[in-house]
Amino acid sequence: MRLTLSVIKADVGSVGGHTKPSSRMMATVEGEVAKAICNGLLIDGFICHTGDDIAIIMTHTRGEGSSEVHQLAWKTFLAATSVAKTSGLYGAGQDLLADAPSGNIRGAGPGVAELSFDHSLSGVRPAESFMVFAADKCGPGAYNLPLYLAFADPMYCAGLMLPPMIKGFRFHVIDMDNTAGDSLLELDAPADSYHIAALLRDNERFGIDRIISRTHGEVVVAVSAQRLHAIAGKYTGKDDPVAIVRNQGIFPAPEEIISPFAKAHFVGGDARGSHVMPLMPVPLNTPVTGMYCLPIVSCVGFSIDSEGRFAESYTDFFDNPAWDEVRRRAQRKAIEMRSQGWSGAAMLPYSELEYGGFRDTVSGLLKRFRLRDDRKPEAAE
Ligand code: 13P
Ligand code: 13P
Ligand code: MG
Ligand code: MG
Ligand code: MG
Ligand code: MG
Repeated sequence: MRLTLSVIKADVGSVGGHTKPSSRMMATVEGEVAKAICNGLLIDGFICHTGDDIAIIMTHTRGEGSSEVHQLAWKTFLAATSVAKTSGLYGAGQDLLADAPSGNIRGAGPGVAELSFDHSLSGVRPAESFMVFAADKCGPGAYNLPLYLAFADPMYCAGLMLPPMIKGFRFHVIDMDNTAGDSLLELDAPADSYHIAALLRDNERFGIDRIISRTHGEVVVAVSAQRLHAIAGKYTGKDDPVAIVRNQGIFPAPEEIISPFAKAHFVGGDARGSHVMPLMPVPLNTPVTGMYCLPIVSCVGFSIDSEGRFAESYTDFFDNPAWDEVRRRAQRKAIEMRSQGWSGAAMLPYSELEYGGFRDTVSGLLKRFRLRDDRKPEAAE
C-alpha cells in the first residue's frame, strides 16, 4: 500500500489570549476527523495542540497534496474558527490566510508536512514508526539545527556510523524568501555538510523541506517550511513549523532524533514573534502561559499497523522528567536573554520585524531624520 502521512496544523483561535484552543474547538476538530475516517477519506487521524495551534495527524492513501484531504483540514479549521468566533476567542481564524483555496492548501496559511512510502511491514521496514514535532511561537527554521545534528552529525546520532546510514542523507533545502514559488536545493550529507550548515544557519531564510536516505531512497523527514508573512504580506502570528520524522531501523532511533533538542537552542519567535529565545520541549497539549511566551515544541510518536492505522496508543516524547532539566535550562537561558530587553541580539533584526508593527514605529521616525549641516561657516573677509 502506498501510504501518506499528512500533518496539517493551524492556529484558529485561543482562550484567554494566545494560549491554547478551547475544548469545544478540539471536540469540533475531533468530530470532523472521526467523520472522515468513517466515510473512508482517512485511514486514521489524531488531534493534539501545541500552545494555540491545533495539529491534525492523518494516514491515508490519497497521496501528498490531495485536494480531498487538504479540503477536509481547511473545512475542519473553518468549523473550529466558527466555534472560536462564537465564543469570542482571540485570533479566530488567524492562520486561514486565503479565501476558500481550492485543492491543495499549502501556502494558504496552515502548516503542511507530508510524506509517502510503500507500507508493507516487510523488507527494510518490518515495523513503521514515526514522530511528529509541532512548534508554537517560533520561526520557520526552528528544526534546522536539531535535524541537521540528528541526520548529519555522528556526535548526536551514532547510528550514522552503521551500514544502513553511513552513506548519509540528502537534504532538500528550501529558500523561503523566494516568493515566486518553492525554490529548492538538494545537498548530500556528509559530503556537502558544510554547505548545508552555511544555509541552515539562517533560520529565517532557509529551511529543511525534506530529508531522504541516500542508501534506500526513502523519505525520512518532511517539514512545513514556509513564512506566513510572505503569504499575508504582513505579520499574522508566528510560522510555528511542523515536522514528520520516521525512525528506527534504516533511520535514526527516537533518542538520536530528540537529543539535539536538549540544547534548547535560540530561535526567532516568542512575544510578538520578534524575539530570540530558547526553544523549550514540552508535553502534548501544553498551553503557552509561562513568562515571556517562550517558543515551545512537542513531539508525539506512533506505530502504524498493516492497515495504516495508528497502533493502540501514542508516545509523548517530551513528557518525561528527563526533559524537566532541559525546561529549567531553557527558562534560565530565557531569563538571561530577556534581561537585556530590546537590545541587540535579544530581538530579531529589523529586516525580520519588517512586516510587524515595530516597522511602523521606526518608519515614522525615519521620516524625521535630517542630514547634519556640517559645512564650515564662510570665513570672514
Ligand atoms: P531495546 O533493547 O529496548 O530494544 O533497546 C535497544 C536500542 O537499540 C535502543 O536504541
Ligand atoms: P501565534 O503565531 O501563536 O499567534 O503567536 C504569535 C505571537 O505573536 C506571540 O506573541
Ligand atoms: Mg496565536
Ligand atoms: Mg500559534
Ligand atoms: Mg502562529
Ligand atoms: Mg526494544
